[in-house]
Amino acid sequence: MRRIGVVGCGLMGSGIAEICARAELDVIVVEADEAGVSIGRRQIENSLGRAVAAGKMSGTQRAVAFDRITFETDIGALHDRDLVIEAVSEDEDLKVHVFKQVDKVIEHEKVLLASNTSSIPIMKLAMATRRPEKVVGLHFFNPAPVLPLVELVTSLLTSPETAAKAERFATTTLRKRIVRSKDRAGFVVNALLIPYLLSAIRMLESGFATAEDIDAGMVDGCAHPMGPLALTDLIGLDTTKAVAESLYEEFKEALYAPPPLLSRMVEAGLLGRKTGRGFYEYPNR
Ligand code: 3HC
Repeated sequence: MRRIGVVGCGLMGSGIAEICARAELDVIVVEADEAGVSIGRRQIENSLGRAVAAGKMSGTQRAVAFDRITFETDIGALHDRDLVIEAVSEDEDLKVHVFKQVDKVIEHEKVLLASNTSSIPIMKLAMATRRPEKVVGLHFFNPAPVLPLVELVTSLLTSPETAAKAERFATTTLRKRIVRSKDRAGFVVNALLIPYLLSAIRMLESGFATAEDIDAGMVDGCAHPMGPLALTDLIGLDTTKAVAESLYEEFKEALYAPPPLLSRMVEAGLLGRKTGRGFYEYPNR
């Protein structure tokens, strides 16, 4: 699979497009409009710039990688892809709509359709297409160019051949490590991570401890690279809430229910790093 399509070029889509280009693949990224294209393009340029500054690649390699990515606003541009990875925001209706559209423009029956969903069962997306056996979850972690894991999620209808191809793509082509998950909301990582993040928000909300102390407790006491509130700011409070809602809808367990503080912050547009303010402020985002 050398011709890759990525739908959505936000936090995750831009990282996925970047690692595909760095793996010498031909990448077409589709965004909803020109404004989305320019934000996505800037994110990829910045991340490649950080990779050069960190000595992970040369300036020439950066230019070559960037040239492998084409930006489009017409989903029809994906018609000749071998694999399309959907990475739009964590909204079931939107993802179902994207899967229907991609399914229409892709003619070749061998093409694989993957979703980077954090939490939505793959079956719900697969059933929006004419080829549920070709649909699989490939869930990357933020920042995708840095974190080595991809969750491989197969639905009841994903064929063994699709699963094997997706696994080879993630491990051999992208050089990621995979963990396999059954098709349950949140898969392995978010089913564990989200209740932890929500607990930290509840702890802050109840006045139990300050944000700085909650985060320092986990960084210095448990050697996590970031505390839970800083991590929620990195993931995005809107995404965290959306993932919590998917988990709550699936399992109806109180530990997955978004706390009111999270809901109020999302309503206020305090979404974390991407808007310059979440639990902390990011003046130079
Ligand atoms: N390309 C390549 N390498 C890069 C890079 C880039 N764009 N940006 C940074 N790096 C490298 C650096 O060179 C460094 O490499 P080294 O260890 O070999 O020196 C390494 O990545 C760390 O980068 P920095 O030193 O610049 O930054 P930090 O040490 O502060 O780490 C962090 C930043 C990687 C974000 C780290 O804090 C971290 O891992 N935090 C936790 C993130 C996390 O848990 N993410 C998962 C979120 S959950 C998710 O995504 C699922 C979703 O569904 C919700």
